[in-house]
Amino acid sequence: MGFVEVEAVKKIFYGEKKEVVALDNLYLTVNEGEFLCIVGPTGCGKTSLLRLIAGLEKPSAGKILIADKMVDGISRDVTLVFQQYSLFPWRNVLNNVAFGLEMKGMQKSERYDYARGLIELMGLTGFENAYPYELSGGMQQRIAIARALAYNSKVLLLDEPFGALDERTRHRLQEQLLEIWEREKKTIIFVTHNIDEAIFLATRVLIMRDRPGRIEKEVKVNLKKPRDRRSREFLQLHIKIREILETILTESGGNNV
Ligand SMILES: Nc1ncnc2c1ncn2[C@@H]1O[C@H](COP(=O)(O)OP(=O)(O)OP(=O)(O)O)[C@@H](O)[C@H]1O
Ligand SMILES: [Mg+2]
Repeated sequence: MGFVEVEAVKKIFYGEKKEVVALDNLYLTVNEGEFLCIVGPTGCGKTSLLRLIAGLEKPSAGKILIADKMVDGISRDVTLVFQQYSLFPWRNVLNNVAFGLEMKGMQKSERYDYARGLIELMGLTGFENAYPYELSGGMQQRIAIARALAYNSKVLLLDEPFGALDERTRHRLQEQLLEIWEREKKTIIFVTHNIDEAIFLATRVLIMRDRPGRIEKEVKVNLKKPRDRRSREFLQLHIKIREILETILTESGGNNV
C-alpha cells in the first residue's frame, strides 16, 4: 500500500453543452517520501487529479486513500498550491504565511517567528508588511508556497508552482524545495510543463495523456543529487520524456500544445 492511493478513479465534468471525461480509470500509488512529478499535455487532467487528491472534488467513480484513510473532503494531511497563486488580498505577507498556523491555534508570537523563517527561506525578508497587490507574480507565488509549507502537512501538492518565474528564480526555488523535501520527509506531487524541472526534482516522472486523461508511462529518475542538467544521463532522460510527449501530442491531433 502506498501513502497516496488512487484507485480506478474517473472524473466527469458536466458542462453546459457536453460532459468531459477529465480522468478515466486512473490508478496511482505514491509512496511516503516520494517526489512525484507529473507532465502531460494541457487539458489531460493534471489539475483535476490534484484537486481530487486534495479533496476539493469528488471522483465520479473509484476512490482515493491517504495513509489508508479515504479522502472525503479537505484534510489537514494535504495542502495544494494552486496553479494561479491565490493569496488573501486583504492580508499582508506575514499574515498570509501565518494563516495555516493561526488555524492550528498557534500563539501569535510563535506563528510570526515561524512565518518569518519561511519568508526568509523564500528570500522575501523585508516584505512582511507588503500586501499581495504590491508584489510581482513571482513573489506572490513564493509567498503562496511559504503559506503552504506553514501548514506542514504530510502531502504537498503543487500545480505548476514555478511556471511564471524567470529561470534563475525557478532554479533557486527548485533547490530550496528539494532541501525542504529532504529535511521534512514530505510526500510531494508536483505538476509541471517543464521536463527539465521534472527531471531535476523527481524520484519518478509520470506522463499523462489526454482524452480521456490517463497515465501513459512513468520514468524513474535515479540520478544522484545534486543533479547536473548538462550531464549525459540528464539529457538522455530529457529526450526520452520529450519523445513520449511528442507521440501523445501527435496522436491527439497535434492541436493541443
Ligand atoms: N470545473 C470544470 N468544469 C468542466 N470541465 C472542467 C472543469 N475542470 C476541468 N475541466 C475539464 O477537464 C479537463 C482537464 O482539465 P485540467 O484542468 O485538469 O487539465 P490540466 O492537465 O491541468 O491542464 P493545464 O496543463 O492546461 O493546466 C479539461 O478538458 C477541462 O476543460
Ligand atoms: Mg492544470
